[in-house]
Amino acid sequence: MYKVLSVVGARPNFMKVGPIHRALSTKENIESIICHTGQHYDEKMSKVFFEDLEMPKPHIYLGVGGGSHAEQTGKVMIEFEKEVIKLKPDLVLVVGDVNSTLACSIVAKKLHIPVVHVEAGLRSFDREMPEELNRLVTDSISDFFFVTEDSGEKHLLHDGVDPAKIHFTGNVMIDSLVHFKEKASQSKVLEENGLTPKEYLLVTLHRPSNVDSIESLTTLAEILNAVAGKIKIVFPIHPRTLNNLKKNNLSIENENIILLEAQGYLDFLQLMQNSKGLLTDSGGIQEETTFLNIPCLTLRDNTERPVTIDLGTNILLPLDKELILENLEKVINDDWKQGQIPRLWDGKAAERMAGIIEDYLSK
Ligand code: UD1
Repeated sequence: MYKVLSVVGARPNFMKVGPIHRALSTKENIESIICHTGQHYDEKMSKVFFEDLEMPKPHIYLGVGGGSHAEQTGKVMIEFEKEVIKLKPDLVLVVGDVNSTLACSIVAKKLHIPVVHVEAGLRSFDREMPEELNRLVTDSISDFFFVTEDSGEKHLLHDGVDPAKIHFTGNVMIDSLVHFKEKASQSKVLEENGLTPKEYLLVTLHRPSNVDSIESLTTLAEILNAVAGKIKIVFPIHPRTLNNLKKNNLSIENENIILLEAQGYLDFLQLMQNSKGLLTDSGGIQEETTFLNIPCLTLRDNTERPVTIDLGTNILLPLDKELILENLEKVINDDWKQGQIPRLWDGKAAERMAGIIEDYLSK
């Protein structure tokens, strides 16, 4: 029996590992084990996702919690190393670009355990973003790679990766979306908040570049207040954003702005699939809105997911009030580009991955 140890740490990891665990569990010769580092630990940032995504309780929980980048990465490494030595997995699977991805891939490789990186090769070319550093290091030491879009393959080849190690498997996060779309539509989140489909915008903001300074937070609050004169806004607030608002004595108060705490997977999917459009700085939401053909304004200077712009419904915008208001006006008036669904974003990525992992382990 081969042991595959999959790592989750932060919110965007759960919907990627869920389908992979399900697919690996159908293989008779593979034992799929989930390790949760505890990078995200609030019920609303973690536990609710395991329930919503019908995932088992993690087999291993490291409980590292928050901290500076070095503290968090260091704590994950120290605790993960002990578990890997005990368990002796045949493969460690890491997803995405969070601090846990970086920490666990380094630990595994130093113990000579092969690593597969899911969502490999993405690049924003912005080394101020912690995620870009996490991606670069993880890709430079992984043994094989699952990519979601052409740019991922291109960057890995450019970095000299052997083409035989790169597998274009599609987007496993879309597997979760496809699997749970119907179930999400039974969520009562719209009724509970007095919302009518297509009559509100959905906002999520948590990137340090947008929410860590008082200036950017103030500009964002001004933008939201201005838009709220035209359409309702639903804003589930990430703990980082909430902490920074409190720290700076800022508040967003407007009868047309509905502030919610961080939402679970199914409620958020329901909010997203019924929204008129999204204003966000998330990575994954750029992809989910492309799949759902819903307008997405991404408040960043760059994206590691260019297919969402080239083929999808996404555009990038700097934190410029006039420009953002102009584009939101277009969304409200249904004046937006039509997207196409990128190659192999079909709900079957995890099956393909499980097949490749099985082949890899049996060789
Ligand atoms: C992390 C990821 C980011 C991802 C995001 C999704 C890194 C470098 N960043 O950023 O790529 O887009 O997750 O959410 O890995 N906090 C809580 N409760 C929680 C989790 C966090 O209160 O359950 C607080 C932390 O204490 C900290 C802040 O929120 O003050 C930020 O958390 P952290 O995990 O450092 O980074 P994120 O901004 O969530």
